[in-house]
Amino acid sequence: TQAATDATPVKMPALPDAQTVTGVKHWTDRLFSFRVTRPQTLRFRSGEFVMIGLLGDNGKPLLRAYSIASPAWDDELEFYSIKVQDGPLTSKLQHIEPGDQIILRPKPVGTLVHDALLPGHRIWFFATGTGFAPFASLLREPQTYEDYDEIIITHTCRDVAELEYGRQLIESLKSDEMMIELLGRENLDKIRYYPTTTREQSPRMGRITNLLKDGTVFADLGIDPINPATDRAMVCGSLGFNVDLKEILEGFGLREGANSDPKEYVVEKAFVG
Ligand code: A2P
Repeated sequence: TQAATDATPVKMPALPDAQTVTGVKHWTDRLFSFRVTRPQTLRFRSGEFVMIGLLGDNGKPLLRAYSIASPAWDDELEFYSIKVQDGPLTSKLQHIEPGDQIILRPKPVGTLVHDALLPGHRIWFFATGTGFAPFASLLREPQTYEDYDEIIITHTCRDVAELEYGRQLIESLKSDEMMIELLGRENLDKIRYYPTTTREQSPRMGRITNLLKDGTVFADLGIDPINPATDRAMVCGSLGFNVDLKEILEGFGLREGANSDPKEYVVEKAFVG
């Protein structure tokens, strides 16, 4: 409505820490991704998050933590977001268009970084919903391929359409000449993509947590179960998902790591609401 447009503060000049939107893509009525300019001084490690947002109706910044979905080498920053119709931020953020400005606090932090894991042979990226974002960064990060011989990315969503951002990203890695040159064709063959849906028919149905517990994942991929001597994991999804997956990983003997104390797995909550 006109009233909503008038209230939208994104086109106001002199926003603190302003960055300009360069592209927006709507994937479903619940999901969209967008790209913004990158502050020249911003350095981050692939997998980290920053605070981004808009000015709220009260004139104060309304900020939320968002994983950076683009890799550390990219000139721009990419984000992958849910749209919540009554969410304080995403009800507005979903209407941004190229040329609009958003607020981006240039202080990257986070635990889904290679430094927080001990060396290993195989890395698992476990995502639900928009929890795919940090892995969109790490899958485009050369270090991922230097550090591991096998990379398994699982993504659980309600329906097939919600998998599309991740599916296209992985497909583009393997078909985009620039990506192949940067990451190496043999390295890209290390990726094993394991998408599952819970509310719509697809080739593999069910929560990844259940598929790990009953061994289906290992049987499908033709691999041995998770082993602390060889396997490392990063987890990003809803709070309930993170809690359930932590328990499963601990059950396999993996221990939670941190930047200052690297171990076998790390967890971060995906932005919600
Ligand atoms: P489900 O449909 O069984 O709830 P959402 O869109 O609500 O963020 O959920 C994204 C996906 O994560 C859905 O497929 C959902 O399955 C799944 N999910 C939610 N909670 C958990 C959990 N605790 N363990 C495993 N998967 C979960």
